[in-house]
Amino acid sequence: MLRRVVAGLVAAAVLVPLVLLWQTSRVPGRFSVTEAGALERGSGPRVTTLDGHDGHTGGHDAAATSVDALVAPSGPPDVAVTFTARAERVEIVPGTTVDAYTVNGTTPGPTLHATQGDLVEVTFVNESVPGGATLHWHGVDVPNAADGVAGVTQDAVPVGGSFTYRFVASDAGTYWYHSHQVSHEQVRKGLLGALVVSPSPGAPVAGGRDVARLLGDAVDVPALVHRYGPRRTVQGAPGDLPVDVPAGRAARVRVINTDNGVLPVWVGGAAFRLVAVDGTDVHDPPEVRDRAVVVPAGGRADLLVVAPADGSTARVELGGASAVVVGQDGAASAPTRRPKATLDPLTYGTPAPLGLDPARADRSFDYVVGRAPGFLDGKPGMHWTVNGHTYPDVPMFEVAQGDVVRMRIDNRSGVPHPMHLHGHHVVVLARDGVAASGSPWWTDSLEVGDGEAYDVAFVADNPGVWMDHCHNLPHATQGLVAHLMYTGVTTPYLLGHDSGNVPE
Ligand code: C2O
Ligand code: CU
Repeated sequence: MLRRVVAGLVAAAVLVPLVLLWQTSRVPGRFSVTEAGALERGSGPRVTTLDGHDGHTGGHDAAATSVDALVAPSGPPDVAVTFTARAERVEIVPGTTVDAYTVNGTTPGPTLHATQGDLVEVTFVNESVPGGATLHWHGVDVPNAADGVAGVTQDAVPVGGSFTYRFVASDAGTYWYHSHQVSHEQVRKGLLGALVVSPSPGAPVAGGRDVARLLGDAVDVPALVHRYGPRRTVQGAPGDLPVDVPAGRAARVRVINTDNGVLPVWVGGAAFRLVAVDGTDVHDPPEVRDRAVVVPAGGRADLLVVAPADGSTARVELGGASAVVVGQDGAASAPTRRPKATLDPLTYGTPAPLGLDPARADRSFDYVVGRAPGFLDGKPGMHWTVNGHTYPDVPMFEVAQGDVVRMRIDNRSGVPHPMHLHGHHVVVLARDGVAASGSPWWTDSLEVGDGEAYDVAFVADNPGVWMDHCHNLPHATQGLVAHLMYTGVTTPYLLGHDSGNVPE
């Protein structure tokens, strides 16, 4: 009898906390991202609101600014397009069709071209993507209302609905767009495309005179890489992409990695320069050969390659399965092997002013990625944690407009994560305590290997509520997400399964 009572008590002592954990891990069917997480203000001075009043956070007070109010200037757009999304079957290789999502009938969708300073207006129409869709402008520091995150900056656009995105393309560079509703599925199925912002005529080039001359008449080659099932494609087609470039002239190959893992890129048959990373020019990019550039998920790398003088070809190898072939008349060439050495952006190029002083940061945060046993939405397992919390109880980093912010991204989770902050570019200060010594390394998609810690900094100059998540999108779905919020900004949108908004 006594034994049974003791056994019962022991069982209860184990079960009751488990049931409680299970219960409290349930993700609400509908919730506001500003009220879900663990608010963190970092170390730094007292927070003041946008209009200078003392610290109120989000909430529903009258002084608060809604994300809806954070918009581009009014006026006629310089670039205006309509993008219509559809669910349809697409032939990737002759004879092989896949279930895909298209933009204006193709996947990837059309490459959107703008010139620096242009006001861009995209009318997005969802013709037939079930469950709704959005467009997010990956790497573009858009005003928050145009960020395209379902449940944070807008509601998912239902079938038959539309939404207008407006932003100024203030930074020249290579970007991409993709849906941010059920993104792990919609991105994989191709609801995406490239975005190229050309420098305004006469804009200075960060690479000295010879680079400027080569860039000036380089053939511009967007190279969006995406897997449809097992097939790796470049600009929607498997195999090589030949580009006709006369000997001595250069091609600027804009590599965009839209997949969930890293994409190693190298050049066979010529030297190259890495002239831009994540849309930002590299300062004084030296010529290198036999080095692989590792492009993180979501990241971009612009390679400048001169067509060989002897009329042979240079192969910009995209992971080894396909290549951009730079040369004359699309001459065929044999694939080349990945070089052993890797180009390290931490030491590549030469230093230049950062435009911020990280030694005088107003706020500093830790973003520690871990993995721990527990419950997530009632499911037991090993789950991602951010600063020890499991989704949706993940951090909400709060900043004030104008803050210089430092963040240490520390990965102790056993696998690498490509970390992506919306609405801002961060500059890498150090990796594992080793200070950056090359060109300023501005990034929006940063591969943080297991056991690595990156110190980064940015200026909080774009008010809103912004996601800060892993761009290995299945990881994001599993809760590897946090947010950045400016004091005094609120969102009227809700996420969660009952809300219809499921950004990841
Ligand atoms: Cu490219 Cu939050 O995403
Ligand atoms: Cu990840």
